Amino acid sequence: MRKVAVNKAILGRYAGREIAGPRPGQPLLRRGALIDAELLEAMQRRGISIAWISDELLPEIDAPEAVKFETREAVRTAFSGAYDSAETWREQKSLPPPEHGLRIEDSTQLLVGEIASSNDVLTNLSFIRAWDDYTFEHSVQVAILSLLIGKRLGMDEDSLSRLGTGALLHDIGKALVPREILQKPSRLTDEEFEIMRQHPQLGWEFLHECFPHIMPTSSIVALQHHERLDGSGYPFGRREPQIYLFSQIVAVADVYDAIRAQRGYRADFSPRQVYDLMRQEAGAKLRADAVEILLRHVALIPQGSVVQLSDGTYGMATKLVPEDVLHPIVLVVAGESGKPLARHEVDLREGGLEVTRLLDGWPREVVAQVR
Ligand SMILES: [Fe+2]
Repeated sequence: MRKVAVNKAILGRYAGREIAGPRPGQPLLRRGALIDAELLEAMQRRGISIAWISDELLPEIDAPEAVKFETREAVRTAFSGAYDSAETWREQKSLPPPEHGLRIEDSTQLLVGEIASSNDVLTNLSFIRAWDDYTFEHSVQVAILSLLIGKRLGMDEDSLSRLGTGALLHDIGKALVPREILQKPSRLTDEEFEIMRQHPQLGWEFLHECFPHIMPTSSIVALQHHERLDGSGYPFGRREPQIYLFSQIVAVADVYDAIRAQRGYRADFSPRQVYDLMRQEAGAKLRADAVEILLRHVALIPQGSVVQLSDGTYGMATKLVPEDVLHPIVLVVAGESGKPLARHEVDLREGGLEVTRLLDGWPREVVAQVR
């Protein structure tokens, strides 16, 4: 089963997991259902952005997620309300309905409850690379990652709630940046980049004006999440003691998710490169203990991912190895050219192979020859 973005690419695929409908007992999408144009439209109408599809080659492999689908969608919906509020505020300067802010806190509470009660040694958290709604997916992901860090740093539930709220809203200022700049697919000009760099201040001002009930320790995260411990960040070039703890944690989660999700005109990093880049930044720019927690406890190659190994073969990560985020067990199914191989498990801790690429799905030549 694989997590995918809800768009035309899933037409003709089979649903891997049920999606609840508006009425109990009447799911919008049943497990095993063929996704046709009508179902796709129904999902999009309800604002469902992510679905699980049954894998073409290895449908039997399940990949339990750290956060329940319903919780993730609730958080995403709450964030989307706040984002709409910010866009309206930008265009009309009208104050949003107060429930938009309250929903953020309620949904954060759900996340905190789930993360606080989990005792995974290694968290399986899949992600989808940059697509249309990147800010939405990124914000939810950063909230989850920040909470995982906060929990391992020993925070109580009250602190986690405030941390989660700040993390979820860290990039809300992006709703206040002109859309042409935010969604520009190519490199930004210097001038556009400067406008983009205003999002921390814009976000903080928006929260201050429009969601005054959100605690300052949460809203400060919007202002400070691009500050770096050595003073090299923005908007003010603050140094470690003046950067609030929650902002330091969210900065780590933000960089980590951004590097993992990068692609296109930017780099497309291998899991090892993500690991090394994070290590390089730890201590000087990013809070070292928070980096360490992610690199030890969040799978860089999530269970259920399609991967290519350093010998060119293709397979799927089927089991995670505790405290070893780079070396899951991989079930190899095809050679470099896509030619089927006798299926066999490879333990990446032995034998010197590495995952060189995390793929969004099986390459066409593999599906054509293996199925
Ligand atoms: Fe940001």
